[in-house]
Formats: sequence, C-alpha cells, structure tokens
Amino acid sequence: MTSLHRRFPCVVDMEAAAKRRMPKFVHDYLIGGLGRESSVRRNVASLDTIELMPRYLSEAPAPDMGITLFGKRFDAPFGVAPLGLAGLLWPGCEVPLAKAARAHNIPHVLSTFANRAMETIGPIVGDNGWFQFYPPNDPAMEEDMIGRAARAGYETLVLTVDIPAPTRRERDIRNGMSVPPVLDLKTMFQIATHPHWARHVLRNGIPDFENLSPYYPKGSSLQESAAFVGRTMTGHLGETRVRRIRDAWNGRMLVKGVLDVSEAQAYMALGADGLIVSNHGGRQLDAAPTAVSVLPGIRHALGPDVLIAADGGVRSGLDVARYLALGADFVLIGRPFVFASAAVGAEGGGHLMTILKAELSGAMAQLGCRTVADLPSFLHAPRAN
Ligand SMILES: Cc1cc2nc3c(=O)[nH]c(=O)nc-3n(C[C@H](O)[C@H](O)[C@H](O)COP(=O)(O)O)c2cc1C
Repeated sequence: MTSLHRRFPCVVDMEAAAKRRMPKFVHDYLIGGLGRESSVRRNVASLDTIELMPRYLSEAPAPDMGITLFGKRFDAPFGVAPLGLAGLLWPGCEVPLAKAARAHNIPHVLSTFANRAMETIGPIVGDNGWFQFYPPNDPAMEEDMIGRAARAGYETLVLTVDIPAPTRRERDIRNGMSVPPVLDLKTMFQIATHPHWARHVLRNGIPDFENLSPYYPKGSSLQESAAFVGRTMTGHLGETRVRRIRDAWNGRMLVKGVLDVSEAQAYMALGADGLIVSNHGGRQLDAAPTAVSVLPGIRHALGPDVLIAADGGVRSGLDVARYLALGADFVLIGRPFVFASAAVGAEGGGHLMTILKAELSGAMAQLGCRTVADLPSFLHAPRAN
C-alpha cells in the first residue's frame, strides 16, 4: 500500500485536506450552493438513502466495470464533470486531470468556462474528451465556438441548459468572490496564509477564460473580460437555439441540466443523443430536485435505450453504483476532482480515479454483480408496511 493510499484512502480525506490548502474564498466557491444550500446537501444525502441488495448464492466472476458509449469502450462508468474556473480553484489542475482521464480511459468534460483552452486540452485528452458548451447569445460567436470545438478534435458536445440567469451565491457575495476576486485585506490574508495555492498561481499565471478570450476586445482587463462573459453567456436557450446548435454540430450532443420528464422527452425530440440529469451540483436553484429523485421517472419515460447520465453528490465508487442501479448509464463527478487536485497535487485526479474504480469494483463484487448493466437488479426497494 503506497503512502498516498494511506493518507487519502477516500474522498473524505481529500476533501478535508483541500479545505486546509485552499483560501476560504476559493474553497467556498467550490463547495457552495445558494440560499440555505439544501440542494447541495440533498445531493449527497439522497444517495445515502439508496440501498443495494447483495446476493451470495450465485457465482459471480470478477466484476467488469467497462461501458460502451457511442461505440467507444470506457474502463469505468464515471467521468470528470465540467468545472468552470477549475484553474482558479486549484491552479494548474486542468491539464493533469485531462491526462489522468485519458490514462484511466474515462470521459473528461471540458467546461466552456475552463481556464485552459479547448485547443490545448482537446489534443491531450483525445477521444476521451467531450466539450461542454454554454452557448453565447451572439450567433456568430456561437458558430465560431462550435467550429473550434470540432477542429480541436471534440466529437461530443455537452450542451448545458441550466444557467439561464445569474445566480446569487451568498458565500461568494460575502467573500467578494468575483472574477477577478476582490483583493481586500481579508482575501489577501487568506492568500498569504495558503502558500501552496499562492505558489500554484504564480507558477501557472493569473487564470483567464481561455475558451472565450478570442472574443474580448484585445487588452481587456480581467474585470472587463468577466463583464463580457456575464453579458454574453446568459439567457434561456429555448427550442430555436437548441435546434440551431443541433444543426450546426455534426457530432453527438448530450443535453446537461435536465430534471423534468417532459423536457427530457422534448430534448430527445430536438435531436439530442442523450441527457445528463443534473441540478448543477445544487448551484442554480436551492429547491431543485436531486438527480436521485427524478432519474427513475426519466428512465421509465424514455425507455432502456436512451443514453442517460446523472450527476450530483457522488463521493465514492459505491455512489456510482447507486446511480447506475437507479437507471443511469454513467455518472459525472465534479467537486471531488478539485479536492483531489488540491490535496494531492498533479497526481490527485489519477489517484481519485484509482480509488473510485477500486470502490466500485469492491461494491460490485460484494453485491455479486458481474457487469454494470446488471446493477439495476440490485436496487433494494423496501416494501411499504
Ligand atoms: C465549481 C463548479 C463549477 C462548475 N462549472 C460548471 C460548468 O462550467 N459547466 C457545467 O455544465 N457545469 C458546471 N458545474 C456543475 C458540474 O459539472 C456538475 O454538474 C456538479 O459539480 C456535480 O455535482 P458534484 O460536484 O457533487 O459532483 C460546476 C460545478 C462546480 C462545483
């Protein structure tokens, strides 16, 4: 057992170390939601309530965690969720995360709001990479970004539909967390007392929105570029825009941020190749349902053949099994990959992927489950008295 495994055997350990190593205003941005943050808590708590029934009588050979999505075989049914500003949360984490996803042969989703450009990450991640698209409200820029994603080698577009309006995240308001962060005495003190993070900023440079910087006026300050992003990336998508993006993109398109059964059906009718059931990590609407609560209904309505992913609250390989038992084909995982990067460094993402695979494989072995497709048959639905 390596010392890394002894120090960080699971997400909880990495989460605690990340809290110590990140300045508070950055850490709050990562973990926070809005309002009373009940949606963030429910995402994790709802998974805890999902019980799986182990069976011991049948012989089950070693579990096979592999899945095939769009004709490509992946080694495990989880991937790295898109995380905007990941390069500010833990500076320099984006390239190692992309490399680790490729090495572990799992999907990696690069955010439109990433701090490294799709032209940089695309070639690194190869056909493990998908590009997450927040469409700008400028059609020429939309068309240009779609063309760039294809030229960067991406074949799968993840169209996120759940940020129609700016959110009020109270932690960020209190902390002066904006782009650029308010540098008052409080934040300066937090930076000075977190030298690891500060050193990483110095080494990697002040993070910019590299996917969007070609569209700001040249020489824009960080403040001006953030204002541009705020103005441009907002508004409901609506059917016309979804259809236009569908027509412009020649590859596969997944819609992320779906919670409502009838909208799930509508996105499929508009030409989506699959859906990601998600409440955005509890960051958009504190009353939004969890993916856990709506996923079974969406699976039931759409049938077994539609590709459905889910995310929110996954903190272990067992949680991955729980989502699959509820009907997901695969899951995305967000915050834990930043916890891992902050706690461990450049090897953190790969370490977390190793841990998640071991946890999932262990859970499947304990259940007596041979393939991930069999997981729904292990869902335990207690009978009402
Ligand atoms: C800091 C942060 C930034 C995020 N940025 C994006 C983004 O740019 N695009 C997107 O589609 N989702 C974004 N999300 C949502 C995640 O992709 C994912 O849905 C969510 O984190 C899943 O919940 P989890 O963090 O509990 O795993 C972000 C989430 C966090 C925590």
